Amino acid sequence: MRSHYCGGINESHIDQDVTLCGWVHRRRDHGGVIFLDLRDRDGISQVVVDPDTPESFQLAEKVRSEFVIQITGRVRRRPAGTENDNMPTGQVEVLGKQLTILNAAATPPFPLDEHVDVGEDVRLRYRFVDLRRPEMLNRLRFRSRVTSYIRNFLDSNDFMDVETPILTRATPEGARDYLVPSRTHNGSFFALPQSPQLFKQLLMVSGVDRYYQIAKCFRDEDLRADRQPEFTQIDLEASFIDEEGLMGITESMVRKLFKDVMDIELPEFPRMPYEEAMRRFGSDKPDLRIPLELIDVADLVENVDFKVFAGPAKDPKGRVAALRVPKGSELTRKQIDEYTKYVGIYGAKGLAYIKVNDLAKGAEGLQSPIVKFLGDDVAMAVVERAGAEDGDIVFFGADKRSVVDEALGALRIRIGHDLNMLTAEWAPLWVVDFPMFEETSDGGLTAIHHPFTAPSCSAEELEAQPATALSRAYDMVLNGTELGGGSIRIHDEAMQETVFRVLGIGHEEARSKFGFLLDALKYGCPPHGGLAFGLDRLIMLMTGASSIRDVIAFPKTQSATCLMTQAPGTVDDKQLKELNIRLRKPPVKSEAGEAEAKSDDA
Ligand code: AMO
Ligand code: AMP
Repeated sequence: MRSHYCGGINESHIDQDVTLCGWVHRRRDHGGVIFLDLRDRDGISQVVVDPDTPESFQLAEKVRSEFVIQITGRVRRRPAGTENDNMPTGQVEVLGKQLTILNAAATPPFPLDEHVDVGEDVRLRYRFVDLRRPEMLNRLRFRSRVTSYIRNFLDSNDFMDVETPILTRATPEGARDYLVPSRTHNGSFFALPQSPQLFKQLLMVSGVDRYYQIAKCFRDEDLRADRQPEFTQIDLEASFIDEEGLMGITESMVRKLFKDVMDIELPEFPRMPYEEAMRRFGSDKPDLRIPLELIDVADLVENVDFKVFAGPAKDPKGRVAALRVPKGSELTRKQIDEYTKYVGIYGAKGLAYIKVNDLAKGAEGLQSPIVKFLGDDVAMAVVERAGAEDGDIVFFGADKRSVVDEALGALRIRIGHDLNMLTAEWAPLWVVDFPMFEETSDGGLTAIHHPFTAPSCSAEELEAQPATALSRAYDMVLNGTELGGGSIRIHDEAMQETVFRVLGIGHEEARSKFGFLLDALKYGCPPHGGLAFGLDRLIMLMTGASSIRDVIAFPKTQSATCLMTQAPGTVDDKQLKELNIRLRKPPVKSEAGEAEAKSDDA
């Protein structure tokens, strides 16, 4: 139906006849001449229709925004002074001869003009219109280029694309499962995979050797700006390979991707043990663009009268840390109050600080609400430990270790951005040597990665000292975002059973949930490992999008609904009966509908 895309017309087509199809982006009536900006996925062309072609002119008078039309005409140079240097097609226009209206359109729910800020709820409800915006289409196109690049890379490195089931049993990755009731087995449920983890390990047992999949994963968890209930992983696994091999190949994939698709040369990825990341940055995904660090001061304050500091300093599970901000003494009282409120989100009960006005004057030269509680000597020692100079401010966190890590870790990032301290555009790294387990609130242990991750020690050592055991896991972090994570897996049945035991999963339960895996480990399982990238997060970072929803064609809202299809929806009684399901309460009408449309634009 067309000879060219609208965006593809330029001076080389002058004096040629072309046929374009697309949407009317804008229509302007210039007394006797009608200008139509015609848009398709490649761009916009200006079409001029004049009364010399009366039939087309009459039709052009009728068209409105978003009408779908076909136009045949001749490309000509725009009259001098009317060129638009900001548009690739800005030197030319098409003198329309034959216009056909292919479809009329109702007035769009919002103008597509890029400068108009539209509420996200409206955009999500009319996503098919929202996606017409060049900004959105370009992200989809970019995403397609990235997946195609990655497929090529992995194909040429002998990875085999294998699909794994969506209707399956639970794969624990730390979130709640999405369940699907079975009609043929009343009372039984499938779980949608939180990841293809177990299947990819089984493929290694089968001898696939190198597997990849661009896989949909489902996790019913609290959503944030970089999380979706249904998201996509670039999932891979390989046999007869160790950490070095896996980190090597995936790092080279990401470096090449950035180089070839965006012409960005990423620096080498440094490796940082988890312990160091937490100690220096309070986070296992440190943003290394920000040159601020946490510094431990517990030993200096454990004997002061100030209980706020001395308590956590003496508590083995506590932490007292300082965060020095160069030139931070310019921060106003109001800004400090703002930061105090901010760390409160992470559970911090306050935000002590010392402004360093003049070190030569000793404690006299310090300005702070806590120097009087610490005493002059301790205050000076703390300031010195933090490396503070005149004009700096030092903030303090004192609490349970996890609270201080989270609060000062988040403050570090916030201040880094507020004070424009970023030292680089891209800061990748590997975080390695994760602990195997972390403590749950009820005193039990839970796997930091997943329970199939191999420890770096023997089964005996693991059982004796589970809380301090390290794992063979690695995370790839870019600009403070966890892009991907993986590990060398357990390939030995006894080791797998040990890990289940440490996690409080008894023999019976392990057999009933993971019997197939334990069986597979018996029948010749090669040493293997892998990694999964969050594709949506990767695209988000590469495109600079501020929300994960902006890089997904049809995303869910923060409360896990689709405003366009109104999913999830109710089902009729017949379907429920077939599934042998009776609802305990009548369904809440229109969960995904109007009520939410108003509230959900976070
Ligand atoms: P993990 O749970 O770390 O590992 O997930 C891998 C990557 O997937 C991305 N991701 C998400 N992206 C968007 N929305 C979500 N809700 C979400 N959850 C995770 C992150 C993360 O780094 N099977 C293991 C991988 C392995 O061991 O090979 C796994 O799923 O970018
Ligand atoms: P208070 O004696 O509670 O008024 O606290 C004195 C100073 O210590 C104030 O600046 C508080 O913001 C700060 N502060 C209180 N609790 C903590 C804490 N857990 N960590 C860091 N600073 C705190």
